[in-house]
Amino acid sequence: MILVVAQSLSKTYATDSVEVKAVQGVSFEITAGSFLSFVGPSGSGKTTLLNLIGCLDKPTSGSLTVAGVDVARLDRAQAAAFRGENIGFVFQSFNLMPVLTAFENIEYPLVMVQNKLPGERRTRVLELLQAVGMSDQKNKFPDQLSGGQKQRIAIARALVTQPKLVLADEPTANLDHETAYTIIRLMKKMRNDLNTTFIFSTHDTRIIGEAEIICTLEDGKLVRCEEAHG
Ligand SMILES: Nc1ncnc2c1ncn2[C@@H]1O[C@H](COP(=O)(O)OP(=O)(O)OP(=O)(O)O)[C@@H](O)[C@H]1O
Ligand SMILES: [Mg+2]
Repeated sequence: MILVVAQSLSKTYATDSVEVKAVQGVSFEITAGSFLSFVGPSGSGKTTLLNLIGCLDKPTSGSLTVAGVDVARLDRAQAAAFRGENIGFVFQSFNLMPVLTAFENIEYPLVMVQNKLPGERRTRVLELLQAVGMSDQKNKFPDQLSGGQKQRIAIARALVTQPKLVLADEPTANLDHETAYTIIRLMKKMRNDLNTTFIFSTHDTRIIGEAEIICTLEDGKLVRCEEAHG
C-alpha cells in the first residue's frame, strides 16, 4: 500500500524581498511500513518536506496525498484533526511538556484527540512504556530524564494513538552516538512490531546506515531515493 504520494511538490517561502524555494518540484511515493530517511546538507529542505507531509505547512504548488487524503486541501482545523488521527511526531528537542510526568506526556495525545476512557488510556500508556523500556521511569518529569530517555518517551507519545505514520526530524541530533543508535533501533523495532511507517531526517552519517530507503535532497530537489541495507 502506498501511504504518501507527492507530485511536483513545491514550497516557496516569501520573506521580505527574496523568495526561498525550500522544496522544488519533488515527486515520490512512500510505501506503508517504510523506514525511510531524508538526508542532505543544511538548508536542503528536509524539515520543510517533513512539515508538508505532517500537514504542519501547506505546499505552494503540486499535490500531496497522505493515507489517501489530499492534505493540501485541508483547512487548519481539518489538518489538526488529520494529524491527531494519522501522524505521530518526534522532534530533535524532544518537546516533552515539563510539568507532566513521563506517563502523562505519553497519555496526552489520547486525552486531546480521542475519547478513550481513563482505564483504557492507562492500559495503552503502560503498554507503550514497556515497549520503549521506560516502565520504571513513568513518574519522573522530563528534567529528571536523560536525552535518550526523553526521546524514548517521545517515541511512545508519537505511537500512543496508533498512527499510520511517524515523522521524526533529526530525532538523534541531541544524543550521543550510542544513544542515537539505540533510539533508531527502537524506532525500527516499533516499525517491525506495529508496521508503522517511519520517515525521518538526519545529518548523521553514522545512523543513515540504519535507514532502509535513503532519499537525498539538494537545494530543495530530490536527487535520488535508493534502497539501503538498513
Ligand atoms: N519559515 C521559513 N521562512 C523562510 N524561509 C524558510 C523557512 N523555513 C525554512 N526556510 C528556508 O528554506 C530552506 C530549507 O530549509 P529547511 O529547514 O527545510 O532545511 P533543512 O534541510 O531542514 O536544514 P537543516 O539540516 O539545517 O535542518 C532554507 O533555505 C531555509 O532558510
Ligand atoms: Mg531541518
